Amino acid sequence: METNAILDDIFNSMPDRFRAENAEEGFSFDLGIDLDGRGWTISIHNKTCRVKQNIKENCSAVVHTGKDEWIGITTNTMDPIAVFLAKKLTVDGDIDGALAAMNLFEYYTSERITVKEPSWVIDTLGDNFSVDENGIFTIEKLNCEYLADRFGTPLFVTSEAQVRHNFRKLKRAFQAAYPENDVNVMWAIKSNTMLAFRKILNQEGAGGDCFSPGEVYATFLTGADPDKFLLNGSDRNEDTFRMAIELGMRITLDHMDDLVTVERLGKEFGRPIQTLIRVKSDMASLQDLPSTFYPGVTVPLEVLNYKFGVTYSEAVEIADAARKSSFIDIEGIHSHIGRDLHLPEHWKWYAYDMIKLCSQFTIDTGIEPGILDLGGGFAEIRDPSSHNLNELAAPAEVYAEHVCEGVRKGCREFNFPFPRLWVEPGRHLIGSTTVMISRVGNVKRTPGVCTWVHTDASTNFLSGAIRHNGMSYHLLAGTRARDKAVETVDIVGPNCAGDLIQPRRKMPELKRGDLVIFLDVGAYNAVYANQFNCIPRPASVLVSGQTADIVCERETLQDVFAHQQIPARLLAG
Ligand SMILES: Cc1ncc(COP(=O)(O)O)c(C=O)c1O
Repeated sequence: METNAILDDIFNSMPDRFRAENAEEGFSFDLGIDLDGRGWTISIHNKTCRVKQNIKENCSAVVHTGKDEWIGITTNTMDPIAVFLAKKLTVDGDIDGALAAMNLFEYYTSERITVKEPSWVIDTLGDNFSVDENGIFTIEKLNCEYLADRFGTPLFVTSEAQVRHNFRKLKRAFQAAYPENDVNVMWAIKSNTMLAFRKILNQEGAGGDCFSPGEVYATFLTGADPDKFLLNGSDRNEDTFRMAIELGMRITLDHMDDLVTVERLGKEFGRPIQTLIRVKSDMASLQDLPSTFYPGVTVPLEVLNYKFGVTYSEAVEIADAARKSSFIDIEGIHSHIGRDLHLPEHWKWYAYDMIKLCSQFTIDTGIEPGILDLGGGFAEIRDPSSHNLNELAAPAEVYAEHVCEGVRKGCREFNFPFPRLWVEPGRHLIGSTTVMISRVGNVKRTPGVCTWVHTDASTNFLSGAIRHNGMSYHLLAGTRARDKAVETVDIVGPNCAGDLIQPRRKMPELKRGDLVIFLDVGAYNAVYANQFNCIPRPASVLVSGQTADIVCERETLQDVFAHQQIPARLLAG
């Protein structure tokens, strides 16, 4: 059904979906809805509701959002707070009144729109996570109840088989899509610093990007092949460069000063140091791509305003200086755009532009980049950053095809030899490997307002829920995952900052002691975990078949205060 027809149906059905019994006596509100230029006014007076086309003057509030977002919100497939935090929804006027008015309507359903039950996601779990016929969520061969009882909650649980599967799928996909030269599939350890994960990925042959001495340490502690690793960063000191050089890693040059330091170290080590220049792409083919992080700003402008990388002309200056030295070897070009390239199609054009840049660089400097590192990262398959709980993102194969098509197109057009390709799939590789098991505490129901389901998970450890415009994670009731969702609830944690982990989620009826599973929390949650309210950080467990091992212990209260001291002079009183 066409979008405008769906919208007409959504607004025409509002009077039928209006729950007058929930409206407070005397509540009177004119709510304007502006959807990319099409407008409606919802008038609620004396417990009746009328809806008219166009936005009338002097509305109590006007909501501005996109058509797709409005369809998502009214069908309960996008959560309005996430859309608001993503700056894709704004409200002029009385925001509290607007929320109260919106809460008076049942969600829109139509045979013509598929609104999925949260449990639809069970069919997407693959081989390593599953839900049995009784509705019990299982990681490899161990069910969540067993793990919660044995290790306590909240608990990060990773499937080792899923880590290996995700990597192999990416590697196969890129090798198939790019027979012209070799591909290094890298994992950015910043997304999850569990040594056990790096060990598994080293065994699998993954490369990686390291950003700090700590990340280099973790990488090499677990037996990495230096030829596949890159030291990145926009401000590293000599000790960090020295560490990377001793270990045989390549280094990105992100400033003329980096070149000076690395050249000095090259002389000290008596050999040329292998480097890549980190360049800001001009993104000529994606000039108008809007940023999802900064409304009104295009991605090329965002990239230019990003601290990493040098402009093309600075890259040429660095290369000119490097050419004069026998201690610097510029082997390639690195670039990283990040999360704003969400569709595979964008990756094709980004790759194409980078080949164009490499070709121009060869003409301007006489140095032909033999390695092209395209940075990270691809959307996860159940992409928490999309705020869309109804659809899947593209699989690894589709990303690989688009990236390699862009490289191939560029190489043919600019007569540039196929470079070695380095890709950094980032969160796509690790996100779906890990779940959080949490236990339900108080369930607080205030009719007409909200039901708050407390869990021992928290935005302290699932900071993804509030970072980067907030992530929308799929949730399952751990032991009743196949039950119908009957209630819309706010899933909250114990901390005193509201701790709203997932707002307005349709769940089976939850009670104290139940388990709630947060899917796809492997990227950037454990690493950002904090101890706000003196809450110790959770343990992480790695499951392989029927075996479960602690890979990071649960903190104790002593750990929270481990580095603190009270000066002796304060002890007297
Ligand atoms: C150079 C580089 N590669 C890869 C990644 C990982 O990408 P993602 O954000 O998808 O995990 C990052 C993230 O900042 C990065 O800076």
